[in-house]
Formats: sequence, C-alpha cells, structure tokens
Amino acid sequence: MEEIVLVGFGGHAKSVGDCIERGGKYHIVGYTDIKKTDSQYPYLGNDEKLQTIFESGVRNAAVVIGYMGKGNLRQRIYTNLKKIGFNLPVIIDPSAIISNSVVIGEGTFVGKGAIINAEAKIGKMVIINTDSLVEHECVVGNFSHVAVGAVLCGQVNVGEAAFIGANATVIQCREVKSNTIIPAGATIR
Ligand SMILES: CC(C)(COP(=O)(O)OP(=O)(O)OC[C@H]1O[C@@H](n2cnc3c(N)ncnc32)[C@H](O)[C@@H]1OP(=O)(O)O)[C@@H](O)C(=O)NCCC(=O)NCCS
Repeated sequence: MEEIVLVGFGGHAKSVGDCIERGGKYHIVGYTDIKKTDSQYPYLGNDEKLQTIFESGVRNAAVVIGYMGKGNLRQRIYTNLKKIGFNLPVIIDPSAIISNSVVIGEGTFVGKGAIINAEAKIGKMVIINTDSLVEHECVVGNFSHVAVGAVLCGQVNVGEAAFIGANATVIQCREVKSNTIIPAGATIR
C-alpha cells in the first residue's frame, strides 16, 4: 500500500481520512499541522517537517483543511507541496458516483455519496463534499468547494476558489464567478 501524509488537520480532515481508509489504496502515516490536535493519526510536526517526510519516502500528500470561501491557505499549502515534489492524488470515497467522462484534477476530494455526472470538468484541489451533486457538463474551477448537499444543475460554470454553501442550489447554465461565496441553502436562479 502506498503511504500518504495528511496536511492541516481540522474537521474536514476526519472526513477525508475516513474516505482514504475506505478506499484501501493508501496508508496514512500521520498529519502535519501548526499544533497537535484531536486525531487518531500520529502527529508529525508542523509543515516544516514536510521536506523530511518526503525524503523519508512518503510521496503522496492530501491537503485536508477545509475552505469556506475566505483566505488562500489551501493554495499556499498546495504550492509548497508541489515545490517539495509530492503527488497529490485524487481522493474519492468508494460510495461516490462519477461518470466515466468526468475529468478531475490533482488533489481533488470527492466525499461520500457525491455524484458527478457526464462530461463535468473538475479542477485541481476542489472539494466536492458529502452528498453534493455536480450535474452534466458543469465546470468547477481550481480550489473551489461544493459543500455538503449542494446542487449544481447542468452546465453550471464555477470559477476558481468559489464556495457553494451547504444545500445551496445553482440552476442550470449559470455562472458562479471566482471567489464567490454562496450562502448555505441559497438558490441561484
Ligand atoms: C453566508 C455566510 C458565509 C455568512 O456568514 P457571516 O459572514 O458570518 O455572516 P452572518 O452570519 O453575520 O450573517 C450576515 C447576514 O446574512 C444572513 N445570512 C447568513 N447566512 C445566510 C443564509 N445561509 N441564508 C440567508 N441569509 C443568511 C444573516 O441572517 C445576516 O442577516 P442580517 O444582517 O439581516 O442579520 C454563512 O452564513 C454561510 O452560509 N456559511 C456557509 C456554511 C456552510 O455551507 N457550511 C458547509 C460546510 S461543508
């Protein structure tokens, strides 16, 4: 089994860690964060340890801090990990349903029960969270987050680092600009 390190540990990390374990492809060696936190995985130190972890032979990393529409922490961590040389595999929970024609970029996470339908294009480092629906031909830009239960109807075009809140719905063919925050439960018509 290949080894993987989790980077940044909060609530979202537990969800991603669980999906990685269910997938059975990677062994989680531990996590880095600014401090030790409530986790079942070994604490490996702060992000300055990542170089040493890479040199010890761990080649895969997953950025497991969440994104609620503000800040660029995930982008900064991603740039650092790439500079060191880590692979950022796509993490998909076994219960997700993904059309064969979907394209997904590196470091993207697809949670439990999520559905991504035909010809959707998902960028890198995206979060398609638990029970969300990304319909046919949608485009979701790098670093965006489709939160739990959110629905993107067909051909929606989401820019970069946008946040679509829990249970929000965006109707077909609409554009969500980069860095937009859509509140939980909102309907964009
Ligand atoms: C939209 C959001 C980001 C605003 O947060 P905030 O900046 O802290 O703003 P506040 O909570 O102070 O609310 C500001 C105003 O917006 C309203 N508002 C907040 N969230 C709203 C929502 N989801 N729908 C409708 N109105 C909302 C508040 O009632 C308040 O109105 P008021 O000024 O008339 O009193 C936040 O409420 C939200 O929806 N976050 C997403 C949570 C989520 O989806 N989590 C998923 C994790 S996977």
